[in-house]
Amino acid sequence: MMRILLVILGSAALASATTANAAPEYVGVKVCTKCHEVQGESWATTAHAKTFEALKPGTKADEKKKAKLDPDKDYTKDKDCVGCHSTGFGQAGGYAAGTAPGGEKQLGSVGCESCHGPGGGYRDQHSKAEKKLKASSEATPRKALVAMGQNFDYDKACAACHLNFKGSPHKGAKAPFTPFTPDVDAKYRFEFDKAVRTKALHEHYKLKGVFTGDPVPAVRADFQKTAKEIPE
Ligand code: HEC
Ligand code: HEC
Ligand code: HEC
Ligand code: HEC
Repeated sequence: MMRILLVILGSAALASATTANAAPEYVGVKVCTKCHEVQGESWATTAHAKTFEALKPGTKADEKKKAKLDPDKDYTKDKDCVGCHSTGFGQAGGYAAGTAPGGEKQLGSVGCESCHGPGGGYRDQHSKAEKKLKASSEATPRKALVAMGQNFDYDKACAACHLNFKGSPHKGAKAPFTPFTPDVDAKYRFEFDKAVRTKALHEHYKLKGVFTGDPVPAVRADFQKTAKEIPE
């Protein structure tokens, strides 16, 4: 009897350890926009929402020629390209080469999770934390979100795509590199402090303070000062 109990306890512990260690999955844009509709509508108008277009033959011909790419080639299945033009390429729940880029998850774009991290772990936590705030006026530590895979280091997220080329200031740069470097054209120089303040991400809306404490993103206070009210 004791032995059976130990086996059961042992496998339960193993199962929970596996769940805790598994990398969270990418869930796609629609899961996030169910609750964050306003950011979703704004994001949908940005270049990040349409990053697969640039890989199709015949688009951006002049830019491609300048970067020594073939404007007539179809790059939509090219592993050297899709990583930075999609969400979660090659990772659990993320974009898989050769699959349709659209659909509900909209993985053929630089979606919410490219910057905020794969949502499989933290998506439920957001609504739970909101209910807790309503019920007991208690905010939830932001740290709990980091443990579940949410990213607040935006600088690093942008660098993985925008500064991934040989000789870039980004230390972690590794192949495949972006063909569009400052050497090709000065306009491709990426400065985080400037770029993060453009309309390329999405409009910002006022937060109610459901989450609290570190890590507070460095840009948060600035953005919240001018953030819009979410319409009722
Ligand atoms: C079931 C509803 C729901 C879903 C699904 C959801 N969120 Fe949230 N999210 C919330 C609520 C509620 C808050 C707290 C907002 C506040 O403080 O005003 C929040 C907060 C956030 C914040 C700010 C956190 C902070 O630092 O205070 C970000 C960023 C965010 N969500 C992104 C996402 C992304 C990306 C997804 C998809 C993977 C997602 N959310 C899915 C409801 C949701
Ligand atoms: C390491 C990430 C990365 C890889 C790999 C990558 N790209 Fe991109 N690509 C980017 C980024 C970031 C931009 C936006 C550059 C900017 O506007 O500053 C971009 C922009 C583009 C543009 C638009 C340029 C313009 O001036 O409008 C095209 C076209 C493009 N990429 C095609 C490709 C093709 C084809 C490949 C594969 C041969 C590829 N990319 C591989 C990150 C990448
Ligand atoms: C997964 C890769 C990826 C990530 C992460 C990423 N970007 Fe981009 N970004 C791109 C690509 C690809 C384009 C080019 C889209 C095109 O022109 O088709 C782009 C375009 C842009 C542009 C130019 C938009 C325009 O309208 O011309 C800006 C500005 C920008 N990104 C800023 C950022 C910032 C700031 C971050 C981080 C908070 C970031 N990006 C994160 C891949 C990425
Ligand atoms: C290219 C990067 C990028 C993409 C893509 C992106 N975000 Fe954000 N998001 C940011 C940054 C940077 C902030 C501002 C920093 C902060 O306050 O946490 C932010 C802030 C937020 C916030 C806090 C409130 C606000 O409006 O500032 C929410 C909620 C949010 N994003 C949801 C989303 C959702 C949903 C999507 C997809 C539809 C998305 N984001 C796509 C970078 C991105």
